[in-house]
Amino acid sequence: MRGVLLSGGTGSRLRPITHTGPKQLVPVANKPVIEYAIEDLKAAGVTEIGVVLGHKGREEIQELLGDGSKYGVDITYIVQGNPLGLAHAVGCAREFVDDSDFVVYLGDNMLRHGVSDLIESFQSDEYGAGIALQEVSNPEAFGVADVDDQGTVKRLVEKPDDPPSNLALIGMYVFSPAVFDVIEDLEPSWRGELEITDAIQSLLENGYEIDSHVVTGWWKDTGKPEDILEANRLVLEDAERSLRGTVEDGAEIRGKVQLAKSATIESGAVVRGPVSIADDVTIEDGSYVGPYTSIGENTRIAGPHIENTVIVGESEVTTNGRIIDSLIGRAAQVESAEGMLPEGRRMVVGENSQLHL
Ligand code: G1P
Repeated sequence: MRGVLLSGGTGSRLRPITHTGPKQLVPVANKPVIEYAIEDLKAAGVTEIGVVLGHKGREEIQELLGDGSKYGVDITYIVQGNPLGLAHAVGCAREFVDDSDFVVYLGDNMLRHGVSDLIESFQSDEYGAGIALQEVSNPEAFGVADVDDQGTVKRLVEKPDDPPSNLALIGMYVFSPAVFDVIEDLEPSWRGELEITDAIQSLLENGYEIDSHVVTGWWKDTGKPEDILEANRLVLEDAERSLRGTVEDGAEIRGKVQLAKSATIESGAVVRGPVSIADDVTIEDGSYVGPYTSIGENTRIAGPHIENTVIVGESEVTTNGRIIDSLIGRAAQVESAEGMLPEGRRMVVGENSQLHL
């Protein structure tokens, strides 16, 4: 089966981080979100992957993924042009999937157990589409499925005011090529997009059955800063301790800490896992790096107390204050101004920003 990985979208809910790059490249535990999708597809045996590119970050995504060989897959790029919605993006892959069944993965979604189950149970002579579902507390923010006691999908609706259930459509789908004809007939939704949820509803109305799976492991749509932090927590929770870098005498390290080869934790610094520290990072004397923090490449940490935070990389954090629940963009500088009080600060900082706290 071929895979279609959707990596368009404006990333509006992740601004200012996405002013300068696509949301699919924001790192979670020091790995861009889109790489998790590629790995899940590969693990499910999908090695021919069409990556649908929007307007934003085309070059960066192609530069990162290349021809796919470094992941053991074969990548074809498909340019969507105008961002007219997920169903439009899928429609752009018609030639690539070449009249066979295919799996669609939203490039900003993360799933603990991957897509193997969804793919295995799907048989096109029976189903028009296969969907993955998970119970959520805010179904009105997603596509929602109405499923009867036998597990038969009755109806699908995108971001309903009055949700028929709390089962959200998570961003993984399997389709038979029948979906392309219904996409051609779709009308834009209230938000002006051709909705993938409406395409599946249309398959139902055309007499196709829809296979459904309720996914048990965690799933995250990484659309907002707090989602990135939560995904980071979930991935770090599962990580193993691995200290490949330099730990000076007098540094204190506890718990699951991943320290890359050319990273250094200096004497007098405290690191308490789960934490991920990338190459060319220095954690200096007097710094505390606490649970659920990821620090990206080439970053200097001198003095702060940091917890539950993602630092994208190429940054200097020289404040002695507390930084908690924060997302700090590439090449940001965070330093102390005179008389700073040591209370916790929560922030979302864009690329190349300078903050004097
Ligand atoms: C999209 C889909 C929605 C689905 C969600 C999963 O929403 O339209 O049906 O539940 O992805 O992440 P969007 O992220 O475009 O708001």
